[in-house]
Amino acid sequence: MNVYDSERMTDALTPMGYVATDRPEDADLVILNTCHIREKAAEKVYSELGRIRVMKEERALAGRETLIGVAGCVAQAEGQEIVRRAPVVDMVFGPQSYHRLPDLIARARSGNVVETDFPAEDKFDHLPAATSAATRARGVTAFLTVQEGCDKFCTFCVVPYTRGAEVSRPVDQIIDEARRLAAAGVREVTLLGQNVNGYHGLGSDGTPTGLGDLLARLAEIPGIDRLRYTTSHPRDMDDALLAAHRELHEVMPYLHLPVQSGSDRILAAMNRRHTRDDYLRLVEKIRAARPDIALTSDFIVGFPGETEADFAATLSLIEEVGFAAAYSFKYSPRPGTPAATLGGQVDEAVKAERLGRLQALVTAQQQAFAASLVGRTLDVLFEKPGREPGQLIGRSPYLQSVVADAPAALIGSIVRVLVTGVGPNSLRGRLAAAPDAVPAGRSPLPAADTTRNVPSPSIALAAGGAS
Ligand code: 5AD
Ligand code: SF4
Repeated sequence: MNVYDSERMTDALTPMGYVATDRPEDADLVILNTCHIREKAAEKVYSELGRIRVMKEERALAGRETLIGVAGCVAQAEGQEIVRRAPVVDMVFGPQSYHRLPDLIARARSGNVVETDFPAEDKFDHLPAATSAATRARGVTAFLTVQEGCDKFCTFCVVPYTRGAEVSRPVDQIIDEARRLAAAGVREVTLLGQNVNGYHGLGSDGTPTGLGDLLARLAEIPGIDRLRYTTSHPRDMDDALLAAHRELHEVMPYLHLPVQSGSDRILAAMNRRHTRDDYLRLVEKIRAARPDIALTSDFIVGFPGETEADFAATLSLIEEVGFAAAYSFKYSPRPGTPAATLGGQVDEAVKAERLGRLQALVTAQQQAFAASLVGRTLDVLFEKPGREPGQLIGRSPYLQSVVADAPAALIGSIVRVLVTGVGPNSLRGRLAAAPDAVPAGRSPLPAADTTRNVPSPSIALAAGGAS
């Protein structure tokens, strides 16, 4: 979501003449787009600001002004405290204020600006759309936020506080954005939301629409051949969404469905509002709808009060489900969340040891899944050149990277690839049909970005942390 938000901030700055630069020292404006989900992500902001301060001083010696902004959820949560700890910062603004960037920049020239309200107006009504050239330069896959915020209040999580209550964008606004993406050559769209399957946006006739129906509408758009969505809550996997997995070939056979723990005691303490058995039964229903679906999940180890028996229940859930991949984290107490003040906080060494065991199990499952694909032919959407000349990198339906020898003209095409081997983080393959027998991509290489040579103010955006 921070990648998407950073792109939208870039789009908001484009009319002001800003262009992106990969070199922070060239930037007239630096925005750190931050993540507050775990302490490590949040602390990275301050070490990064230390480096940026030195850069700002060096540029000042050369007579060049540099504006520094902190955006995202650390900004939302810490507000004024950021300017106190790091006076180098000119602007602090939360995720709901990105459309106000031009105004914030103007105000920052005459003193620090801190903006962390949840404004009454909807930023999506005010943010400019990406230009076609910007979308082409970003490639053939794109993110599209359909929902923000969360009403679930898991006891470990800051999201309901930093991103606020659940808000869904109207269906027509999403369809418009997806059509523009398709017109600029995008073939795969990943719908985003902190609780994306809680989506309930209004349709053109004013009726609430769920994610399953939204996916069906998006699947009708010519050019959009692949749809994904993330991140989901098990409680919100309704029948219409299962039907979308069963019936729409555009919906990829891949689902990220965080469970966090396999222990009922811990799930209750986390306020997850489902049991282990609920999750297992849901997995059965999902697999009945789409038998080849690859499931991935998130896990937290060392939640307050987690015993060895609770942790063993998490391992056994992983054994029982069989995941294609998973993200796992040591519990990190977050200020203002109920779990941070619970008794029974688990020792860091115990957390680290449990995390190691869990990750070993998940890695073994991930490798077994990848190995099971060797000898099979998969549809691969080629996205960009690989490391070696003549290679392209694409994605399998199951979101794995696939590397194959293929002509650059196939970027943007979905091509049959025979999987021939497994690397540590990717599959290797070869084109299953001769390249000239493969339909050429409708959108070959992204158009050259001619704006780069225009002398304009530059902006560097960095997404901090990963949730
Ligand atoms: N500590 C550790 N992990 C967390 N997550 C969210 N909050 C915390 C926390 N306080 C993890 C969850 C969630 C993912 C995005 O980040 O697993 O699904
Ligand atoms: Fe956080 Fe996800 Fe729980 Fe919402 S559902 S509170 S975003 S972990």
